[in-house]
Amino acid sequence: MTNDLIRRSDSDGIALLTLANPPVNALGLAVRQRLAALTAQLEADESVRAVVLTAEGRVFVGGADIAEFDRPPEAPHLPDVIAAIEASRKPWIAALNGAALGGGAELALGCHYRIFADTARLGLPETSLGLIPGAGGTQRLPRRIGLAPAIEVITAGRTLSAAEAREAGLADRIAAGELIPEALAFARTLKGALPQPSPAAPLADPGPAFWDEARARIARAARGNPAPAAALEAIRVGVAEGFAAGLRAERETFLRLRASDEAAALRHLFFAERAALRPAALRGIEPVPLTRAGVIGGGTMGSGIAAALAAAGLEVRLTETGPEPLAAGLERVEAIFEAQVQRGLTDRAGAAERMARVAGTVGLGALADCDLVIEAVFEDLAVKRRVFEELVRLCGPEAILATNTSYLDPERIVEGLPHPHRFIALHFFSPAQVMKLLEIVPLTATAPRTLATGVALAGRLGKIPVQAGNGEGFIGNRILKRYRAEAEALLLAGATPTEIDQAMRAFGLGMGPFEMQDMAGLDIAFRAREAARALGQDLPEGPGDRLVRAGRLGRKSGGGWYDYAPGSRLPQPSPEAAALIAPLVTPGPRPSGTEIADRLIAAMAEEGQRICDEGLAQSPSDIDLVEVHGYGFPRHKGGPMFHAARKTRSRTGGA
Ligand code: COA
Repeated sequence: MTNDLIRRSDSDGIALLTLANPPVNALGLAVRQRLAALTAQLEADESVRAVVLTAEGRVFVGGADIAEFDRPPEAPHLPDVIAAIEASRKPWIAALNGAALGGGAELALGCHYRIFADTARLGLPETSLGLIPGAGGTQRLPRRIGLAPAIEVITAGRTLSAAEAREAGLADRIAAGELIPEALAFARTLKGALPQPSPAAPLADPGPAFWDEARARIARAARGNPAPAAALEAIRVGVAEGFAAGLRAERETFLRLRASDEAAALRHLFFAERAALRPAALRGIEPVPLTRAGVIGGGTMGSGIAAALAAAGLEVRLTETGPEPLAAGLERVEAIFEAQVQRGLTDRAGAAERMARVAGTVGLGALADCDLVIEAVFEDLAVKRRVFEELVRLCGPEAILATNTSYLDPERIVEGLPHPHRFIALHFFSPAQVMKLLEIVPLTATAPRTLATGVALAGRLGKIPVQAGNGEGFIGNRILKRYRAEAEALLLAGATPTEIDQAMRAFGLGMGPFEMQDMAGLDIAFRAREAARALGQDLPEGPGDRLVRAGRLGRKSGGGWYDYAPGSRLPQPSPEAAALIAPLVTPGPRPSGTEIADRLIAAMAEEGQRICDEGLAQSPSDIDLVEVHGYGFPRHKGGPMFHAARKTRSRTGGA
């Protein structure tokens, strides 16, 4: 079937090659073989004077075949295929019907001309997979668009739109109408010498200060992913020592990183994220089409959810109990859109459009014609239950009714209410307009269609859905509880909050467990423990209890695990907290930095495994997605389950 991967049709001396390797025309071995053979054939064919290379579907080429990266590379290698195209005596015109990413962008860069459909784009996202471009991207892009812009595109994994590519000098034209006829017509006009190939283009070295500054900036943004700095180095070699040396450095680094733990971790997440959006159990089940969504509660969570829904194009009704809280809720939504403008995520007109999709209402009456309602009111069973009792009276039986509870049992919220097939828990993470994780918890009577709608909604919001069973804390908060307990155990073994937080930062988390608790406040968990004690649970007095009883609730009270100077967020070691903890510490050897991180990650992985064993998560990858997208686990470590499995494998020598 190899022949079908690239179709050739000739007319008027122009060969049109159409890649057809769904879903994304990845450049796997068979495609490379066929392209190499075609390149040689076309070169020898005197009836052909130009070649137009395009592809079928919405994507031009989504890159190398990522699934091949777990195996040794096999010839013909992409850099050689591209070099042969670039060296052709005949003009090759890349006609980009859609995204040209990674190897696809490199292939387009090797062609002599590029024509973009107006929806096409070009980017080198390899660093987000722990790699660097491996087929000339680090050498050809700077020679086409200039050093500084190329460094940005490559190290940040940024994608250029057709208009940006045109401006940067990368697109020879953007098709005004139909891409293929225009590309063929363009090919017919070509006469005379080919444009100067990339290898011959000069590139001036801006000097050591430029590279030092770039190195420092890129390392800061990379948060432990080694790929961006490695890409910069390959670019630098190409500038200092020329195209050929740059190409060699690039390939060497690419092959080294391809075999690294970080790249394996990022590949694992790439596939897990895509699988999460298409659960096998829901194949063929049509989600309910959503146009209008109600959000109940305009607090931090409700306003964040409303903003996320409106940004995704849904018409939103945000409801509150009275005019004042409603005005405050709408202000919160507006502030979110304003912040999005400040960060360049949308422009003023876009923000105004989003806001225009949010209507505020008092009471639930206006939710009667919503396709979906998400309740985000106070975490109190009776309050939530009243909301649902009213909703089932107002909304039709097909409207999907969701609770955003974190800790209550959703079954109890809707117990006994009619049409239970449409109830579900959709657990957003704060800030809901930012955090990518959406835990989706079906209840015993939830219909597959309701579940499929939750998953589709996550996709529409640009979030990652993870199905969780209905157990306390679902997946994420249950692991968080275990993680915090382990952090306290380390404290009682003599490690300080500073040592523990620093160990986790060094591992790659944005924040350690104690600074995080200080930020969120220690009182909520304390109250939950006190409530459990009141119900007869035997919970021994822990260090967190002692802090709260001494009035140390976290940053908001001026101190918790740490002290804070007035107005400062900088945690300072606290002698008072240390004195409160000291009586609980057992004498013995103090855990070291790596031991601390190892124990904390192992605790997360153990709890994750237990959750899988209990059937509350569908796979270890789902645990990883929860931690990466909801709790700041570093992407390049792949999640606690991936990390633990990799560690075990390396300890047992890969057995
Ligand atoms: N290699 C292998 N498989 C790939 C792939 C690649 N480079 N790119 C995408 N796929 C697969 C996905 O795993 C998915 O498979 P599934 O249907 O079995 O889940 C399928 O192609 C569709 O991908 P998806 O991302 O869901 O489609 P999309 O239309 O939303 O986006 C792209 C298309 C090309 C924009 C997107 O897939 C992408 O960004 N791919 C990776 C690009 C990249 O990093 N390339 C550099 C490789 S070194």
